[in-house]
Amino acid sequence: MCGIVGYVGWRSVQDVVVGGLRKLEYRGYDSAGIAALAGGQVCAVKSVGRLANLEARLAAQPLDGSVGIGHTRWATHGRPSDENAHPHLDCGGRFAIVHNGIVENYLTLRAELLQRGHVFQSETDTEVIAHLMEELYDGDLVSTTLNVVRRIRGAYALVVLHRDDPERLIAVRRSSPLVIGLGQGEQFIASDIPAILEYTRDVYVLDDGELAVVRRDGVECFTLSGEPVNKQPFHVTWDAVAAERGGYAHFMLKEIHEQPRAIRDTLTGRVADDHARVILPELNWSPEVAAGIRRIHIVACGTAWHAGLVGKAVLEQLVRIPVEVDIASEYRYRDVIAPEGTLVMVISQSGETADTLAALRAAKARGNRVLAITNVVGSSVAREADDVIVTWAGPEIAVASTKAYTTQLVALYLFATYLAQERGMLRGDEVRALLTALDSLPQAAEQVLDTAPQIQQFARRYAGVHDTFFIGRGLDYPLALEGALKLKEISYIHAEAYAAGELKHGTLALVTDGVPVIALVTQTHLYDKTLSNIKEVKARGAYVLGLTFVGDEQLAESVDEVIYLPRTLPLVAPAVAVIPLQLLAYYAAVERGNDVDKPRNLAKSVTVE
Ligand code: AGP
Repeated sequence: MCGIVGYVGWRSVQDVVVGGLRKLEYRGYDSAGIAALAGGQVCAVKSVGRLANLEARLAAQPLDGSVGIGHTRWATHGRPSDENAHPHLDCGGRFAIVHNGIVENYLTLRAELLQRGHVFQSETDTEVIAHLMEELYDGDLVSTTLNVVRRIRGAYALVVLHRDDPERLIAVRRSSPLVIGLGQGEQFIASDIPAILEYTRDVYVLDDGELAVVRRDGVECFTLSGEPVNKQPFHVTWDAVAAERGGYAHFMLKEIHEQPRAIRDTLTGRVADDHARVILPELNWSPEVAAGIRRIHIVACGTAWHAGLVGKAVLEQLVRIPVEVDIASEYRYRDVIAPEGTLVMVISQSGETADTLAALRAAKARGNRVLAITNVVGSSVAREADDVIVTWAGPEIAVASTKAYTTQLVALYLFATYLAQERGMLRGDEVRALLTALDSLPQAAEQVLDTAPQIQQFARRYAGVHDTFFIGRGLDYPLALEGALKLKEISYIHAEAYAAGELKHGTLALVTDGVPVIALVTQTHLYDKTLSNIKEVKARGAYVLGLTFVGDEQLAESVDEVIYLPRTLPLVAPAVAVIPLQLLAYYAAVERGNDVDKPRNLAKSVTVE
């Protein structure tokens, strides 16, 4: 997610904005910029790379003045570059804007603006907002901003600076956070509280659909229909470190709770309004490319490999072509059979995992087309793949991957549906049912987060165990693998995932009195079979925690505890059912006093073999 800082006051705007952006560095970014009002002009300085690069440019071209805006960019549309960094200006250099979010309809708006003679400097979706401000400016910055945001679809946190209105900034938000820091003779705007804690602990937290007019002597808030809003200040008691985590105890917990938004963002702009079609403009495939795919090899590591296993099941079910899933460190050295028509799909949150990158390069050397699913636009995987589907989870700080995983699943569901629709494998009603189910995921994820207290209680009792098993059939098996990995990597409890039907072929020997077994039962067509496996482990004394859909009244009779999930299509259940398992791992690790965000022996991105 991008970082925004704005300032109207008496201090050096350069010092306040750059210092604030530095406090937002933890959010991850690939470029940065600042615009200030000085001498009746809007002056902007931007740079790709770290803030130090921007500061080097500012050393050569310092910005005067005490009104301005700044931004750290996490690229979604348009590669990391000086030109794509924010702030973005209109043709006349009168407006400067910074934006956090996604303008879904930017391609249409950009085409219209180009047709009317506007000249664009960047590839970004955001720049259309600056040109719309210029085009719709009616002499009043507030009404102009309201008219502009009515024209854009998608998520935004937006701050506007205007050359001819030098005493105020306009801040407006929908889905992306913005806070207003309240000072004496000075006011602050930021995406997140850490950027302004140095100056004030009193803030207005802008709600969705609110606009703030920010002047030195005060702040006025309105709804998007122009009605005044009486905001109550919020006094921040967090310290700077807690503030970076948004008040959560750890980045991992924050990122678990960010999943509804991350899933929503990853869906944004990719599902037609009537749920009739998947739209993946970033693929831009001809019908021949889609029809020419004969088989798919999915290659990844760790959690991303688990996503690949879900992808296999979904692709084979919807597209009816063979899909192999390989661990990258094996695939890169295997004598792969990948004749013409093989699509190699690499999945990587960081886009820098050495084994995955090597597998990508081996596939390219063989002449295979490579599609990447990654969370980092400017990553090596993104640059070297033929096609990229970006997950818009925002930077994932904790070593244990959570929101990146669920958004990888969403990207896989979207791609499988896209490929099936392009190859005429699905009727319209089948596509609509699938996309309606995907559209319900953010809400389902929100609901399942409500099970956190129950899971925390279970984790407190569970944290002392040494061995545990996760079992499931069908899509519940990769779910079991991901749950076991989460638990192992942050709680250090030995956990093993098993295809439920396979237990009796040996591992059942390890199931004795009190051994905890997490039984996953979301695949309704395999319900009875999984139930019989649960009875197998119960008969050996296991303590079973079952995961099933709300409304299932049978499972409770066969297990010791049940976690109920909001009902979803079983095909998309893994994207929701994983959340209780993430929480279980988190609370068990906390109970054991582990370093949750930075577990021993592990790195966030394994850039070595
Ligand atoms: C996930 O919780 C792990 N930290 C790890 O398995 C990770 O998924 C794996 O290293 C792959 O990373 P990538 O997605 O950045 O390629």
